[in-house]
Amino acid sequence: MGKIYKSIMVLLVIAFILIQFIDSPRTNPPVTGEIEVPVEIKTILKTSCYDCHSNETVWPLYSKVAPVSWIITDDVNSGRKKVNFSEWNKYSNANKEKKMKDIWEDINADEMPPKSYTYMHPQSVIEFTQKALLKKWISNWKTY
Ligand code: HEC
Repeated sequence: MGKIYKSIMVLLVIAFILIQFIDSPRTNPPVTGEIEVPVEIKTILKTSCYDCHSNETVWPLYSKVAPVSWIITDDVNSGRKKVNFSEWNKYSNANKEKKMKDIWEDINADEMPPKSYTYMHPQSVIEFTQKALLKKWISNWKTY
């Protein structure tokens, strides 16, 4: 029993070391056309959304350790694909409109930022007053 347990532990440690060589790149591509927003809105977006929806991701130390690194880079990549505030000018007006609607809904339903993220980043939780600010900003928002 003891011997088997020891062998399993050794194998696990070796596996853990080996998977570190399967890197998932943590990229921060250039900011090509950032969304223009009032400073108080920008502060909220930066604190609560930019890690997954911009090219200015702050990669935490634990994002460098597999297998957590794979999960986080995957999250950032799919987040950027849906909404990227750093490449906002690439979207058509209709697309921007649609994304704004999605943002309003996600914020209203407390679906963004994801719970798994707020757990590690408590300051990213959208407070009551911030929520009101964001919703008002989106309601007044125009593509032109
Ligand atoms: C931890 C990373 C992370 C953070 C932080 C985050 N998001 Fe997301 N977001 C994602 C991912 C991943 C998706 C794609 C989900 C999917 O494809 O199912 C997504 C999708 C979206 C979408 C597309 C519609 C949808 O619900 O699928 C919107 C809109 C959105 N996020 C808005 C926001 C806003 C606004 C914030 C900040 C208040 C935010 N997100 C913070 C990861 C994040």
